[in-house]
Amino acid sequence: MAETSTQSDERPSLPMAGVPQPTREEVLKLPRVHISSHPVMVHKMTALRDKNTSPPEFYRLVKEIGALLAYEATTSLAVEPITVETPLGPAQGQQLAGGIGVMPILRAGLGLAEAFREVIPDIQVWHLGLRRNEHTLQAMEYYNRLPHKVDLQVAYAIDPMLATGGSAIDAINVLKRRGIPRLSYVCIIAAPYGLLKLAQTHPDIDIYVAALDESLNDYGFILPGLGDAGDRQFGTY
Ligand code: PRP
Repeated sequence: MAETSTQSDERPSLPMAGVPQPTREEVLKLPRVHISSHPVMVHKMTALRDKNTSPPEFYRLVKEIGALLAYEATTSLAVEPITVETPLGPAQGQQLAGGIGVMPILRAGLGLAEAFREVIPDIQVWHLGLRRNEHTLQAMEYYNRLPHKVDLQVAYAIDPMLATGGSAIDAINVLKRRGIPRLSYVCIIAAPYGLLKLAQTHPDIDIYVAALDESLNDYGFILPGLGDAGDRQFGTY
């Protein structure tokens, strides 16, 4: 991470100024990175980015996009056979084998967590509070609510924005300490810089992204992005 140019609260520093960044093309080739190209996703992403989209509509779109991401990110989960009785007799079926956890990174990840719950109602939700320091871009943990007993087949760290990758890397580190056999990271928008950092630091996870953007600006904000996903969900401008 680049040195900060100032620590003044009035004039934020420019921590990404002069920091080399990979191009979109360079990160598109990364293994285990899944970037959506579905027309419905693209349509919803355009509305999400629009600065005239109000917080209630923004929150609704985050949940709709999150449901599509949840569907994509659960494609290869393990299932086990089960027999149920239809009104006409027995039917061989399958059920998900083992628990599923999602860890929303507070606070912007809350809308995505709701989306995952709508797709898979009996998931566990593990809350992790990370706040990015605007001067250093380092993620600081301020809260976590993780269970003592862990019995999951997979856990997803979820957050709308992957900028420098610091928050995502820390969140996966937290999950790795819990010994879960399979981990994934899910976000709405990724910058090439953060995506490359995450994939290099944690090459053993799958990464699901709704849209890959162009770059980070000198402040570390994603371009073209959508602004602050937390503020836009919760109306705190
Ligand atoms: C934003 C965003 C991610 C993080 C991404 O959160 O929601 O969690 O920054 O940045 P990174 O990839 O450089 O770590 P923020 O710290 O603004 O907190 P918030 O969710 O409470 O708005």
